[in-house]
Amino acid sequence: MAAVLSSKIQTRPLSPNIGAEILGVDLTKTVDAVTAAAIRDAWYANNIVLFRNQNISEEDQVRFARLFGELGQVINKHAGVSKQHPGVMFISNIKENGELIGALPDGEMMFHSDQCYSEVPSAASMLYAMEIPSKGGDTLFANMYKAYEAVPADIKAKIEGRKALNVYDYANVPTQRGTTSNDAPRFAHPVVRTHPATGRKALYINRLMTEYILDMDRAESDAILAQLFDIAENPAWVYEHNWKVGDILMWDNRCTLHARSDFDASERRLMRRSVVLGEKPV
Ligand code: SIN
Repeated sequence: MAAVLSSKIQTRPLSPNIGAEILGVDLTKTVDAVTAAAIRDAWYANNIVLFRNQNISEEDQVRFARLFGELGQVINKHAGVSKQHPGVMFISNIKENGELIGALPDGEMMFHSDQCYSEVPSAASMLYAMEIPSKGGDTLFANMYKAYEAVPADIKAKIEGRKALNVYDYANVPTQRGTTSNDAPRFAHPVVRTHPATGRKALYINRLMTEYILDMDRAESDAILAQLFDIAENPAWVYEHNWKVGDILMWDNRCTLHARSDFDASERRLMRRSVVLGEKPV
């Protein structure tokens, strides 16, 4: 039986506009309700939270994930889905017997929000670093509240109440925008969504998966989206996380985007991801 932690947490910022590190929590132990609420508050306030030096099993990661809601499902055809928990997936370039043991193996990945191509996307995603390359393979996180605040008033008026189509073509190159096959999963969601817990407005489009704004001339939609993608990825509200083994980082897909920097394909990278079910964006 796991010991119960004290309810005290301490945080320190990861960057000026997004992210906090949470100190003094051991995720191999059961987190009590007061501590869980404090972690949730820190997460809502900072969009992403990081715990360092954790040595957690898949069960520990799932127990932690369940503090934030129901475990989600991996809803695409990636390799590396855990046999024990359908909401846990390995992200890796490692091959065993010639087969990849995880999804999204190599290279740079464009900014996106997990599962935005499905009707009910995940609220939280958590990535636990198990093996990391000596350089690169960082994950970047962008604050979509800040991005929304920075949208010029005339564009805000044009996107108000609009939806955009999100498509994920995992069958081709899942890390980069490419051609889209007809059977790729897709769903239209508001361009600007309201976070159910904080009540704040966040930009909800991304360069990897958002195709066009509905009921708008395609050229105008392309021009607005190009502008919104640049605003979303402004380095002023991006934090680049340089992983250490034992880091676990939880992000909020409702108010962040994330991307990955390139790394040497000959070096091993192994991350364990869990997702928590969200709600239909409004
Ligand atoms: C992801 O988009 O979930 C993968 C991020 C990473 O591999 O750093």
